[in-house]
Amino acid sequence: TSHTLEPDHPKLPKGKTIALIVLDGWGEAKPDKYNCIHVAETPTMDSLKNGAPEKWRLVRAHGKAVGLPTEDDMGNSEVGHNALGAGRIFAQGAKLVDSALETGKIFDGEGFNYIKESFEKGTLHLIGLLSDGGVHSRIDQLQLLLKGASERGAKRIRVHILTDGRDVLDGSSVGFVETLENDLAKLREKGVDAQIASGGGRMHVTMDRYENDWEVVKRGWDAQVLGEAPHKFKSALEAVKTLRQIPNISDQYLPPFVIVDDSGKAVGPINDGDAVVTINFRADRMVMLAKALEYADFDKFDRVRYPKIRYAGMLQYDGELKLPSKYLVSPPEIDRTSGEYLVHNGVRTFACSETVKFGHVTFFWNGNRSGYFNAEREEYVEIPSDSGITFNVQPKMKAVEIAEKARDAILSGKFDQVRVNLPNSDMVGHTGDIEATVVACKAADQAVKIMLDAIEKVGGIYVVTADHGNAEDMVKRNKKGEPQLDKNGQIQILTSHTLEPVPVAIGGPGLTQGVRFRKDVPDGGLANVAATVMNLHGFEAPSDYETTLIEVVDN
Ligand code: 3PG
Ligand code: CO
Repeated sequence: TSHTLEPDHPKLPKGKTIALIVLDGWGEAKPDKYNCIHVAETPTMDSLKNGAPEKWRLVRAHGKAVGLPTEDDMGNSEVGHNALGAGRIFAQGAKLVDSALETGKIFDGEGFNYIKESFEKGTLHLIGLLSDGGVHSRIDQLQLLLKGASERGAKRIRVHILTDGRDVLDGSSVGFVETLENDLAKLREKGVDAQIASGGGRMHVTMDRYENDWEVVKRGWDAQVLGEAPHKFKSALEAVKTLRQIPNISDQYLPPFVIVDDSGKAVGPINDGDAVVTINFRADRMVMLAKALEYADFDKFDRVRYPKIRYAGMLQYDGELKLPSKYLVSPPEIDRTSGEYLVHNGVRTFACSETVKFGHVTFFWNGNRSGYFNAEREEYVEIPSDSGITFNVQPKMKAVEIAEKARDAILSGKFDQVRVNLPNSDMVGHTGDIEATVVACKAADQAVKIMLDAIEKVGGIYVVTADHGNAEDMVKRNKKGEPQLDKNGQIQILTSHTLEPVPVAIGGPGLTQGVRFRKDVPDGGLANVAATVMNLHGFEAPSDYETTLIEVVDN
């Protein structure tokens, strides 16, 4: 069981304080002007990279190494932190949904049968992120779901889209809307009353996370459920094209809109007797909407109307909360995580980030599980994020505050593992603002220094790594790796993550003499970090974990 005592590591002692630092969106790429990590002053990370070669390496953070369907899938924080914490590679949401659609099992399951009950009299609403980013959702999965549902009796379908521009290029929303409109037109030819009903940019409408700003979810609710929004259009294509013209507005930040008929009436509010599916497989940015749809008791905003619907998630987003209770595909069962093992083996753990990444070092780290394993041995601290801003205007974010909390935790002697996520390079990288991303990288580097200094003082160990790439490459490239120009000869800013590997650095005065990275794990990935950290805490890792990255040589 998860309470098994892990055997002692034959050569490594217990009781060292370990700082486990995850730089979000910090990959390794060729130095050029679009590599913000290279451009930024990052003396601390540079010193790790240029220090002892046996204490710094790269690991894979994308594709199959983190349980994604293909090697073309960039890494992301969910799968990255899952791998870092769980020490094994699990088939992730994207892949599980693919298989369920391929085999058709998705349409035989309990979740689909549940929503199907509404097809006769009600409308089927599909809400989610419209792109091929593959981080939260994929448009081809939506297409298969539309096809499958219409073939199985859905007669009236409304799609509530959230435009992306964050996991994909800004401006690509137009093409995705065209694709979806074509599909819906084909369904209409077959006699299915299918339309886009509402929309908005993912960062402004619906897809908030970790309860940073409920207003975001409320804006979505008003459009999707109540059929009310400040902008009304006859078609979604017109909506997206028009709203993109607003100065400083990009796909991610489109204001909410509803589609109306000739008489000005919203075409698709959610009503009693309807079915709703949230089509994202990734949890963090769907949990809040799931709560609004599922909980009769709800006080986060005034829902005005709470329709009696049949609701299912693409996946179950929170296994602990059983939210939502109905879902189309079972989520990965990420059990026996390193966090759980360590806590049950007496390792006192502190975890901290600011709101926008808080669940990453807790919920995702612990295998999509909320709460403590043992409240007496754990403390999770959330620093409130600024809300209502895009982080390019505040690129330092709460890096210093996070680092100082971690420093205090290290110096307190109350914890064996002090784990943080520094969001800067990722959150600012996603805005596509290169100058601000450079500032963000510098801020993250300074935060690392604060924690490494504390580790120095207490004779501890540090492990510095990242969950996936982002800030190290801010431009779309062609196959040769050169910046790819658009029709107008302009470079295209890359707001998304990358396929790049990420660093792992170990060190500190507490690191036992002779510990170094092994040379026989050249393809090591994020999942190898968990065993490595367990070893540094003085434990052998469970035998089914991906192998450790370190060895101890006698000198
Ligand atoms: C987001 O949700 O902000 C992006 O889609 C992915 O970013 P993350 O995986 O770094 O959280
Ligand atoms: Co990101």
